[in-house]
Amino acid sequence: MQEEAAPKASATRNAAVRLGPNAIAIDVAEIGDEPRRPTGIAEFDRVLGGGVVPGALMLIGGDPGIGKSTLLTQVANLVGSTAGPCLYVSGEESVRQIKLRAQRLGALSSGFLVACETELPATLDLIERTLPQLAIVDSVQTLSDPELESAPATVSQVRACATALQRLAKSSGIPIFIVGHVTKDGAIAGPKALEHLVDTVLYFEGDSQGAFRVLRAVKNRFGATDEIGVFEMGSDGLRAVENASATLLAERSTNVPGSAVIATMEGSRSMLAEIQALSTPSYLNTPRRVLTGVDYNRMCLVMAVMEKRLGFRLANHDVFLNVAGGMKIIEPAADLAALTAIASSARDRAIRGDCVLFGEVGLGGEVRAVNHVERRLGEAARMGFARAVVPHRNAERLTAGDGIEIIGVRTVREALDHSLTERTRKRDADDLVGNDPFDPE
Ligand code: TYD
Ligand code: MG
Repeated sequence: MQEEAAPKASATRNAAVRLGPNAIAIDVAEIGDEPRRPTGIAEFDRVLGGGVVPGALMLIGGDPGIGKSTLLTQVANLVGSTAGPCLYVSGEESVRQIKLRAQRLGALSSGFLVACETELPATLDLIERTLPQLAIVDSVQTLSDPELESAPATVSQVRACATALQRLAKSSGIPIFIVGHVTKDGAIAGPKALEHLVDTVLYFEGDSQGAFRVLRAVKNRFGATDEIGVFEMGSDGLRAVENASATLLAERSTNVPGSAVIATMEGSRSMLAEIQALSTPSYLNTPRRVLTGVDYNRMCLVMAVMEKRLGFRLANHDVFLNVAGGMKIIEPAADLAALTAIASSARDRAIRGDCVLFGEVGLGGEVRAVNHVERRLGEAARMGFARAVVPHRNAERLTAGDGIEIIGVRTVREALDHSLTERTRKRDADDLVGNDPFDPE
């Protein structure tokens, strides 16, 4: 529990964004195209729905160190050198630190203006006086309204600051980005507390140790919310990754049991990703289920189906599952690839190297249809895969196959038959059903 002091009367005036006083019939309302200004970073613009909309307040959330400031520095420089002044207000770093980063990024255009400020009124004033094409506030947790008694980064502070910035964005037409750190510690207000009062919410995800970063729109009043942008962090900043599939599969070793390739959908794009599984005998009373990058509950379902419908004995096995490259795949279409990966590891039989899989697994062990099948197959064919194990219902409706052999399967058992290679190690004579799946070696 954390005490929150009630705001003084003057602070509550910020509470609502005022709309026009007159109602208008929807059939005659004049709207025109939403004017959008691309920032010049294509992956970023795609996530925004084509570019920045004037007067929009946009939140970029993510773990500390993930690259929010880096991305926005690159954006500020591009906008500053092409569209006009871009104001970057930092409450986290000194001008010196910002300049050092900008030097490293080669982001030194004269239209990129920086200021260090932590007080809300001064920040608003700065934006109003500078009238930039784009303003960036890094971060909302360091900004505070001195009129409020609560400490910076508390829920009432971040809400008051975001509300004031929203009002300014709407009245001036200046688009504003605010940075919000996601913190594991619930005591500090994170971006979740702001989602409802901003126009767009982007999350920057990925493993901050790895190079891969995914920018995801989770709310967008001006565009689709399922688009993602893929970036790679290098010594000179974030680079857009155009061929995500190739990057995600770069370190995959074929012929190793437990590695499955899925054609997954991210927004309107399909990309291939590797799901790795390792099933080992457990020495614990409750075997471990360490599942990263996948939906925990769906994977429990998949393992239950393996026990019940395929005769696997996973109850005395630890199961580790990981999506290579730090990706998150939460769509049900990942079920089949995950199941096959676990089966492959448990049986010590590699999955054919040229095979992709996708499909939802039902409780009866049936493989259910998924969406965007053509796009998934197109991506698999483009990446040189020769075989796709897909839900039967999807396969029925397909006409041409992009040179890829399409195998429609009704059940998970059929899927295993079409994707697993023969056992490469000893114990060839053993077979599936009922056997302890672990290799005593
Ligand atoms: P940063 O953008 O400051 O993260 P955030 O604002 O989300 O907290 O930096 C993220 C990390 O990236 C930091 O540890 C340093 C590293 N980095 C690079 O690897 N290359 C670069 O060019 C830059 C600027 C940072
Ligand atoms: Mg930062």
